[in-house]
Amino acid sequence: MCGIVGYLGQQQAETILLEGLSKLEYRGYDSAGICIQKNGELSMSKAKGRLKNLAQELEHHHLEGHAGIGHTRWATHGAPSDINSHPHASMSGNIAVVHNGIIENHNELRSKLQAEGIEFRSATDTEVIPNLIEFYLSKEGGLLKAVARTVKELKGSYALGILSKGEPGQLIAVRKDSPLIVGVGDKERFIASDVPAILKYTKQVVYLDNQEIAVLNADAMNFYDYDLNPLAKDIHEITWTAELAEKGGYDHFTLKEIHEQPKALRDTMTGRIQPGNPIRLDELELTEEQLKAYRRIYIVACGTAYHAGLAGKKAIENLARIPVEVDVASEFRYRNPIVDQATLVIVISQSGETADTLAVLRDAKAKGARVIAVTNVVGSSIARDADDVIYTWAGPEIGVASTKAYLTQLVAMYTLAMKFAEILNISQGSDLDELKSALLNLPEKVEEALAMNEKVRAYAETMFRVHDVYFLGRGLDNVTATEGSLKLKELTYIHSESYPGGELKHGPIALIEDGTVVISPVTQSDLVEKMVSNLHEVKTRGSRNLILTMEKHLDIVRDAADEVFILPDTHDLITPVLAIIPLQLLAYHVSLLKGFDVDKPRNLAKSVTVE
Ligand code: M6R
Repeated sequence: MCGIVGYLGQQQAETILLEGLSKLEYRGYDSAGICIQKNGELSMSKAKGRLKNLAQELEHHHLEGHAGIGHTRWATHGAPSDINSHPHASMSGNIAVVHNGIIENHNELRSKLQAEGIEFRSATDTEVIPNLIEFYLSKEGGLLKAVARTVKELKGSYALGILSKGEPGQLIAVRKDSPLIVGVGDKERFIASDVPAILKYTKQVVYLDNQEIAVLNADAMNFYDYDLNPLAKDIHEITWTAELAEKGGYDHFTLKEIHEQPKALRDTMTGRIQPGNPIRLDELELTEEQLKAYRRIYIVACGTAYHAGLAGKKAIENLARIPVEVDVASEFRYRNPIVDQATLVIVISQSGETADTLAVLRDAKAKGARVIAVTNVVGSSIARDADDVIYTWAGPEIGVASTKAYLTQLVAMYTLAMKFAEILNISQGSDLDELKSALLNLPEKVEEALAMNEKVRAYAETMFRVHDVYFLGRGLDNVTATEGSLKLKELTYIHSESYPGGELKHGPIALIEDGTVVISPVTQSDLVEKMVSNLHEVKTRGSRNLILTMEKHLDIVRDAADEVFILPDTHDLITPVLAIIPLQLLAYHVSLLKGFDVDKPRNLAKSVTVE
């Protein structure tokens, strides 16, 4: 996910672009750049790192001009670096482009252009775009036609801002599957990935739809489809405040990110999972001989990522029948673990910077182990140091509580488990196909689960004053219980604990008294009855039980429940992806009811870079 902004008008573009980018930094912040046009000439300035680096650079070398495009990057193809930063220019420098999205067929296009003698400077997928436009410029006669021809060849997602030396005073924008708006001012035009980038200058916007092209001049704007048929577009008035707009209309980043989960899942599965086809994890080269040669597999992580590891262990053991050990990184690194060349270590980290996880990775590599990283941040320390990287495509997560990153970590672990099973030829193809279909259906099911928001809020009102909550679960439901408990404690500061359902009578049941809140996901078909017995045990001692289950188990659980949340049905192995959603929402609503800062809970940091 990246942020793009563009300007054309009477004012100095540099200031407007920098301001706009500062409002889009939440979309990515590993490098930034702008291109300004003056008297036709295109001048660029780019800097690796946060936007302030670019701003400092521009303080010393201002770029003057009344038209420009800017970009803040969340690296996908090519590590964060000056050279990989946007804007990207064609080989001759005649065309400059900013891009948000992923060009899936960039390798193919790159080879085609290289065969025409075009040389590339960066490792990005984007660089094919300005070169392709320039390639078609002479053939098609005019920038607009060259752009239309180019975008028809692109596969994937993109929002584009395009400037050309040959057409000064014109800015072209294109959108497919990545957001882009056009801002309309008095003799000035803007483009942006998101409203806040231009809200200071205009509240009049045109929303580009998929496969639409906007041709903007300071005092004119025209819209086309890819066949260059003119389109009539409405101008909309934005009524949001700048603060609200940055959160896309949501009150908090945490809620926004909870609602972004369907998209995050889609992005993480795209290109990797397809029923009837083997799992595609091109980033992982692992042969049957290599996998069989590992005598130990460890999954190591911290916090929520560790919980994704617990689900990953169950998936790998179930599907690939390989024993796996899971540990928290701060314990693993000091327990003198058995790590050698016959060891495979899988580390999971949203930020890719967690100190303990990084230390485990480095120690393991030093001892000759192979390390696979599952991470959300391209170019992070963990991504750079690992032998293989499987990216989760959750996009930037701003809220301190991990929500969408967790769901993508779960799905990445399921994908890896299926890959192991396929490499070893263990699970039946039809079983895996069933699982693949269930995974691909998850985004819609997550939408369904999100629709219970109001019900969850109402429940939160009945319990937000309690001092203790106990989460109980068996099997994979224990993973959800543990993650649900962490969400509740970090966002609401309510004391909560999670226990495996069967462990209760070995001590913790002594804590249950009249009115104690017990929350229990009950989704594992083979464990429903056993879990329900445990829930009766606490109910008899006065607990108020909230049960999260599927319609198909309702008859069995009903008597043990004071409240039931019905989850969408899915494959038993992947229920943690759905069952956690009401618990994320619960923690969110309780935090608000208690008047806390849900995006930045006390004592916590988004990225824990110290031991
Ligand atoms: O960036 P990482 O995934 O390595 O972070 C690990 C934990 O610090 C993180 O999951 C933490 O537990 C979250 N605040 C949980 O919501």
